[in-house]
Order: sequence, then C-alpha cells, then structure tokens
Amino acid sequence: MRDQRPTWSGQRSHVAGASGLTRRDFVAGALAGALVTNSALEAFAQAIPLHCAPPAPGIAPTPFVPPASQPVRVRKSAFELDAPEVSKLKAAYAALRRLYENRPNDPRNWYYQGVVHCWYCSGALDSIWGPEIHGGWFFLPWHRCYLYYHEQILADLINDPTFTLPYWDWDTPGRNRFPPPYLDPPDQTNPLFDVFRAVDASTLIPDFLTGPDTMMRVMGQSTFALFGGAGEGVSGQSGRIEGAPHGGVHLWTTNPTTLVPPQVNMGVLGTAAFDPVFFALHANIDRLWQVWLYTAATPPHANPSEDAWGQQTFVFYDGRCLWSQIAVEQVVDSQASLRYRYQPPTLPPAPPGPPAPAVVAAATPPRSAPARVASSTVLEIAAPAGGASLTPEPHTLRVTAPPTAASTLSTMAAAPAQRRVVLHIDGVEVPSDRAALVNVFLNQPDATAATLTSDPGFVGSIVLVPNTVAGGHSHHTVQRNFAFEVTDKIRAAPPAPGGELSVTLVPFQGDGTPPSTISLRYKRVYLATE
Ligand code: C2O
Repeated sequence: MRDQRPTWSGQRSHVAGASGLTRRDFVAGALAGALVTNSALEAFAQAIPLHCAPPAPGIAPTPFVPPASQPVRVRKSAFELDAPEVSKLKAAYAALRRLYENRPNDPRNWYYQGVVHCWYCSGALDSIWGPEIHGGWFFLPWHRCYLYYHEQILADLINDPTFTLPYWDWDTPGRNRFPPPYLDPPDQTNPLFDVFRAVDASTLIPDFLTGPDTMMRVMGQSTFALFGGAGEGVSGQSGRIEGAPHGGVHLWTTNPTTLVPPQVNMGVLGTAAFDPVFFALHANIDRLWQVWLYTAATPPHANPSEDAWGQQTFVFYDGRCLWSQIAVEQVVDSQASLRYRYQPPTLPPAPPGPPAPAVVAAATPPRSAPARVASSTVLEIAAPAGGASLTPEPHTLRVTAPPTAASTLSTMAAAPAQRRVVLHIDGVEVPSDRAALVNVFLNQPDATAATLTSDPGFVGSIVLVPNTVAGGHSHHTVQRNFAFEVTDKIRAAPPAPGGELSVTLVPFQGDGTPPSTISLRYKRVYLATE
C-alpha cells in the first residue's frame, strides 16, 4: 500500500523476503544462458519482475569515498569501439550473466542488477517498492550512480579497472539505430543481446524521438527543472530529456512501429535493465546532462542548488559487494569524483546546407546554481474538477486571456533571458502498465496525430514508459507533471487582451496514427512565468 512506501534510507527493512529462489527465478535464469523457447519467453514476460527489491544486508551502508587517485576512465560511443573493446564489453556481460547462474543470490549478478532499476520505479510490484526516481529531479543523478556501480561491478568481474560502459549516441547523425555490438550476432550467443527487442540493424529511430529538431529543443532548455526535472513524487515534474528522447528510445526498442502498446524488456521500466543496452542508453543521457551543463547560455545552465537535491543519498552494491551509500552532491562532477569522462562522438562530415549551430562550452564549470526559480501562475487554462480523461481524438482546451494575463505574458516573452513562460500540464495519470504518447500544441487546434513536431504550434511531447508489465498490477496508477517552455511561441504571437488561446493534446502512436485506446487523465493545465 502507498503508505508503506519506504523512505530513502529505510529500504533495508522492506526487503526481508528477497532471498529464497522461486520458479520465476528459474525462468529468468534459463534466459540468462541457454536458448529459449517461445513459451519460456511468455512465462518470463508474465513472471517478471519478481523480487523487485534488491537483497539488502542487515547492516548500515558504508558512505562512498571518491577514489581520488584512480586514473580517469573514458567512456566511448558504442559505435566507435574497436575490436578489443567490443570483446571486453562482451566478456564483462558474459561474466555478469554467469554470476547469475553460479550465484543466483549475489546482488551483483545480471538479474539483481536489473532488479535494482525495478525497485526504483514505484508501482512495479503490488505491495513492495522503493522510491520513485523517474519523473523528477533525481532522474539524472540516480541513473548516474546506478551506472557507476554497475560499471564497477563489470570491471571487477573481468578484473580490468579500465573497463567503461559505452554510450548509445542516437543523437549523432547516422546513429539513430541500434548500437552494432549489441546486435552482433543477434542471438543469445551474444551476452549483449536481449530476446525481447523488436529491432534489427536497419531499423531507424524516428526523428521525433531523437532527431536534430528534438535534440535542439531538449538541449536548449534553459533551466535544470525544464531539462532534467524538478522535485519528486506526485509534486515532481519530468524534465524534457526524460520523455523524448529517453522514454521514446525505451519504447522503440521493443515496439519500433507504434511504440504503444509497450513490451518487455526495454519498453517497461520495471524490466528495462535486464537488457544490457539499457546501460548504454543511460550513459548517453548521462553524457547529455554533462553537455547541457557545459553549454554556454545566459543565464548559465546549472544544477539545482537545493540541499534536498544535493544531499539525497542512494544505496547500491559496489564491485566488492559492499553496501554503499552515495549522495547526489558526490556525483555532480563525475570526472573529479567518479573518475570517468566521455570521449565526444566523432561526428560524420557535415552534410551540405547551413552549418549546425556549434555547441559552445561554458568558460567555467557551473557549480553553484541559482535556487529553483519561483513560478507564478498567469493563466489557468483548465482545472476540471476531479480531472479529465483523454480519448484517442485530439482534445482542445480554449481560454480567453484577460487583459492583465495577456499583458504579463507579452512582457515576459519579450525578455526571455530574465523570465520564461512555461506551459504546465499537471496530474497526468496513467495505469502503471500503460505507455502513452501525447503531443502538445499551442494555438494549433487543428493538430492531429499526423501533425509533425516541426509544426510551429508544437510545444513538446508527453512520453510515458510504463512501470510494470501488462495486466497484473493495473490498479496502480502513475502520476506525473510536465512543463514545456513556450516563451518563443508567446513572443511570436502574443495573446491579445480578450483574445483566445488554445492548448491541444493529441494522443498519437509512433506511426503517426491515433491510438485505438488511451487511458490518461490530467488535472490541471496552466501558463506560468518563472
Ligand atoms: Cu530508469 Cu531509462 O529509466
């Protein structure tokens, strides 16, 4: 039940039952090694996630100490690994899977590494789950920590301290496809392979998820809240990087055509980390956080400065099986404290045409940040009592702008360096086993599922990856808040006093058609300045 939700530090008391093996473990174990039959796959898909909670020792965690003297390790694009690096990566995941066969209760093994992620997607199991790290400002730092410990475990298993995870840079031109080592060969003799994927080497990620327009928009977000998320839980808000690209690539991996309905493993948060490519996807998210932070901008890009963010701790097993506790503020400078950095991707020759805007590095590393910007509501657009449900058809909300709101909006939009106009969609609620894709348009009431994201009225996409597998736990819902900066759109077309403004919510599928069904409610839509 919700009120039994453990606190961040109290996880240990909730994982007591996590030792004995079950039939489900057996099925998962079979999948780790030998070739599987279709019925074994089905059984696995229905059975996982099982012990969502990672096994925890009855001892207090040991505080993480940055390994100051370790040489800095370099993470490279998965498209640029040389043959020895690919063999090393495969050897590491082979060892991780073998550890599961030989020591099924070892928390470092392939299975329990996947379970760590499940535990942090609240609602993945009926009665027991950890804190939710999606949909808010812990999304980036929690995954950074997770990758760090995962990488260390792999390095220790192959006894190679220089080992690093590669990143899947779907945003680099020409790399909007699956990273080759993870599909070569595309069967279970490859420890990087996962049988639940539905893509091959030629399947392309659609541009609306990772293409240049989308990435320019995501990387151009001016605050951490808009880029990486704000707050946590039901009062938290998703950052743009978490939806499209991140959530979209999850869904695409297991259902590249329509994206919804979702499929295990990658298409469901509770199972995603059973697929080794999960860690390459998240290494890229982690890299892009770094790129965003160091991109010159006015005001400068910065991480949150609140203690509630920096002092939050998470608990993981390290490579030596030590129960280790790490704080967000210990990982914000990943090179200094975690001793790794990213080798930028080698870009292909630029195509003819106007040059792409260069990413300019900020002169000094942004360390201390302004506090989260206070926001003030300017215009309520909809706050239906008890919330409202979407149907597969586009849903337009219209509001008349009172003179004061109209003039505040135009003034704010005219000085974007100081203040921003942000469209908030709060209390978006979906059953925890459903994916949802909804495009959001401003003053474009004719938008349909086929309207492209290059449309001038396009504001952004709501992309929800379900927490759990279909069916079993649908009485849970997941609630998220979304925010989209619309300063430039308001500036281009300032609302006239007494004029009408509209927001159109358009459910869609990856192939540009409306979904046959959607189960999504929202509570409030409004414009704020911040
Ligand atoms: Cu924790 Cu890609 O999700």
